[in-house]
Amino acid sequence: MGELTGQRILLGVSGGIAAYKAAELVRLLIKAGAQVQVAMTAAATHFVTPVTFQALSGQPVFVDQWDARVGNNMAHIDLSRQADAILVAPASADLLAKIAQGRADDLLSTLILARNCPLLVAPAMNRQMWENPATQRNAAQLAEDGVVLLGPDAGPQACGEVGDGRMWEPEALKEALVGFFQPKHLAGRRVLLTAGPTYEAIDPVRGITNLSSGRMGYALARACQQAGAQVTLVSGPTNLPCPLGVERIAAGSAREMREAVLARVGEAQVFIAVAAVADYRPEQAAPQKIKKTAENLTLNLVKNPDILAEVAALPNAPFCVGFAAESENLEAYAEAKRQKKRLPLVVGNLFSDAFGGEENKVVLFDGDGAHPLAPASKARLAAQIVAHLAGLLAAPVRI
Ligand code: C5P
Repeated sequence: MGELTGQRILLGVSGGIAAYKAAELVRLLIKAGAQVQVAMTAAATHFVTPVTFQALSGQPVFVDQWDARVGNNMAHIDLSRQADAILVAPASADLLAKIAQGRADDLLSTLILARNCPLLVAPAMNRQMWENPATQRNAAQLAEDGVVLLGPDAGPQACGEVGDGRMWEPEALKEALVGFFQPKHLAGRRVLLTAGPTYEAIDPVRGITNLSSGRMGYALARACQQAGAQVTLVSGPTNLPCPLGVERIAAGSAREMREAVLARVGEAQVFIAVAAVADYRPEQAAPQKIKKTAENLTLNLVKNPDILAEVAALPNAPFCVGFAAESENLEAYAEAKRQKKRLPLVVGNLFSDAFGGEENKVVLFDGDGAHPLAPASKARLAAQIVAHLAGLLAAPVRI
């Protein structure tokens, strides 16, 4: 099951050099399980041929309003009725203007006008065209009409200029579409998370860390964002890309992570501590690289602050969620941790199930007891955890 399984997406491609990226977008949408129907403007076919999109989507591509392949010759009605959402990428300045004015002089603009499903557009054009007051007016009008604007990004442009007007990358557009379909369980909430390992320096080139990949924390940050929350992720060192729409703050050591969290926790209604924080750190990091002269080397380790316990004990504590990664006795240890840190929700997993991979197996522990979730991808589990969390948020807190 992909994250877009069962969704029928009509991808509109209008005339712009970013049309070549729409081919990659189709591939990503198909990979995520969506059914994709492509409709192009005549101008778009100058950049990429319909054959490319037909091969990638597995469906005939429509360009012409008068296409005789459609039985009733109403391609605009048929195509728009068969879609759960229309995404236009790239959306040219001309197409935005047409949609804003409700004009319908070719297949794509006509089916957009005839739609009864949501419309998302990814503008792509030269920066002067984007900044032009006419385009800005049209974009504002579209937003007012309930059209979802994805981008544009700033950066180097095909014309050689630099500025606003680049189309969002295909991966970001796919992510936005996945997010669009998620229930908005956390609309209007601010969520703060920690994720990844911490790194406790021994000397300038060595340190103590652990095998946490950060994937579960990143998946949760993404799921919270897709559920409508404003999300800040305080992350230890990982190689993971920051999820779309999430603000990421980098932290190295447990003490840096604690500072970053305490500076922001006042605004958060939910705090989710997923980071595998090192329990101990070297008392003092050596200022220079330690040479291997001595036969034995003793490191004096001191306890790190417990960030979650500290946040949960704040007078105006947010709703706190802890993670318990255990190597045995998951049920007993996780519930004990929940009681000790006074947390309304703990997500428990076994190291053997959790570390490194894309899949996980978790049990949720709350005031009502243990709720095992079926093994699934970290992305799917994250969405289920968010749904459970939202249910608890709506009820009085029970430890
Ligand atoms: O105490 P323990 O490490 O077993 O608890 C795990 C939970 O506490 C996780 O949610 C983890 O992110 C959080 N934690 C923390 N700061 C620490 C240790 C753990 O926030 N120093």
